[in-house]
Amino acid sequence: MTDTPNDPASLEALVAAAWTAREGALCTYSGFAVGAALRDEHGRVWTGANVENASYTLGLCAERVAIFAALTHGGRGFTHVVVVTDTPQPTSPCGACRQILWEFARHATVVMVAAGGVTATASVAELVPMGFDDAALGPRASSGTTAGRP
Ligand code: THU
Repeated sequence: MTDTPNDPASLEALVAAAWTAREGALCTYSGFAVGAALRDEHGRVWTGANVENASYTLGLCAERVAIFAALTHGGRGFTHVVVVTDTPQPTSPCGACRQILWEFARHATVVMVAAGGVTATASVAELVPMGFDDAALGPRASSGTTAGRP
């Protein structure tokens, strides 16, 4: 993976990473497997797939699995978020994922890829009009630093 996010070959590699990640989906209940791949400011790629469990509401979407993994390993400044599904039309991130994208990947381009390569693209800002974030919390918001070691 190169550090050239607008290079089509580079985007192609990110899409391929998302398809590979999708193979890890634990979608026992819905049968709906989703893969996600993010690219950060250094060109690093972070991936995830959706995880479902017997207590249905606790499952996590592929996008949040990928972004939480990235964030907790130092990934920042995301430029692209790819979401892949084996569906006729591209799958758009759910509301919960949009909130997380708004807070942690605000300047990213979201590329949604369906079967056969059918693709839709949107900015996070387009997906989240009038988003809620820490600015609304004012002085209550923490510094946002990581905890570090005790
Ligand atoms: N899902 C995702 O992982 N990402 C999306 O963008 C839409 C939905 C997952 C959640 C659940 O595991 C399954 O797809 C069906 O909703």
